Amino acid sequence: MSHPTEDAPVEGGLVAEVARMTPEQRAEHDAEVAEAVAVDRDIQVEVGETLLELRDVTLKFGGLTALDSVSFGIRRGEILGLIGPNGAGKTTCFNAMTGVYRPTSGQVLLEGKPLGKATRHQITQRGIARTFQNIRLFGEMTALENVVVGTDARHKTSVLGALLRLPRHHREEKTAVERAMALLEFVGIADRAADKAKNLPYGYQRRLEIARAMATEPKLLCLDEPAAGFNPAEKEELMGLIRKIRDDGFTVLLIEHDMKLVMGVTDRIVVLEFGKKIAEGLPAEIRENPAVIAAYLGVPDDDAA
Ligand SMILES: Nc1ncnc2c1ncn2[C@@H]1O[C@H](COP(=O)(O)OP(=O)(O)OP(=O)(O)O)[C@@H](O)[C@H]1O
Ligand SMILES: [Mg+2]
Repeated sequence: MSHPTEDAPVEGGLVAEVARMTPEQRAEHDAEVAEAVAVDRDIQVEVGETLLELRDVTLKFGGLTALDSVSFGIRRGEILGLIGPNGAGKTTCFNAMTGVYRPTSGQVLLEGKPLGKATRHQITQRGIARTFQNIRLFGEMTALENVVVGTDARHKTSVLGALLRLPRHHREEKTAVERAMALLEFVGIADRAADKAKNLPYGYQRRLEIARAMATEPKLLCLDEPAAGFNPAEKEELMGLIRKIRDDGFTVLLIEHDMKLVMGVTDRIVVLEFGKKIAEGLPAEIRENPAVIAAYLGVPDDDAA
């Protein structure tokens, strides 16, 4: 790919500039960033109709049933927690929703339409994006470039157009760089935009993954243990970011082991154990649910406490 930084030089200046702003200027600036991040969405959406639905999804790996007739829905504008002990099938759910694996039986529907045989790329274009439990970034590319790559999923120009550098492609690239920069600022890592991803601190890499997923302008953003390896203060900060993401118009599906954190940020929670859904409800209900308590106490998992 070309070098987006040539079009928009990234100086440490932006962050310093923001730091010098008056509270009023800062509020206006933050609103502009939110606008840039939320191009095609209504900001502050109400929790609404079902956006994504799993209908009796079963997924087998040979003799192992990783998902056993799992059904649940995600409503537009909500933060839905997906929890369960290790090996419960949480990541497999993400894989079934993003085209990594096809359900053995059952269906995944986005806005009422089955994903069917859609490829990963087609699913991204239809509006589902995810991060990975094990960070997957382009280590040799800068933070900014990693996000620009995410915006490519929505580009209208063909690869040929890009090679020929048609005017339209050039225009889109410029916008992509601007949006990518706004996204880095949104997740709080704009000060390291020009650094190679592999050189970023771990917490920055996790946030970069989120920015890159957001760059595809998903209707549904799926986060697979985004706070793994974080200390309590970092987790608290990340929860703030997840709320901000939802307030910006995204719908969020969150896999997270830390109960305190999940209870604090989600609107509803779905619980899996051994591939089966064992509970679904409000955080307060889930906390009191005997089957959930037993599932967590029944496994030697430090996180369950
Ligand atoms: N590609 C695969 N091939 C075979 N078995 C798999 C595959 N992916 C997952 N599994 C198995 O499916 C089950 C569910 O795994 P999954 O990764 O979805 O769990 P999880 O809930 O995400 O767990 P964790 O909290 O440890 O990330 C496990 O028994 C796992 O070993
Ligand atoms: Mg997992």
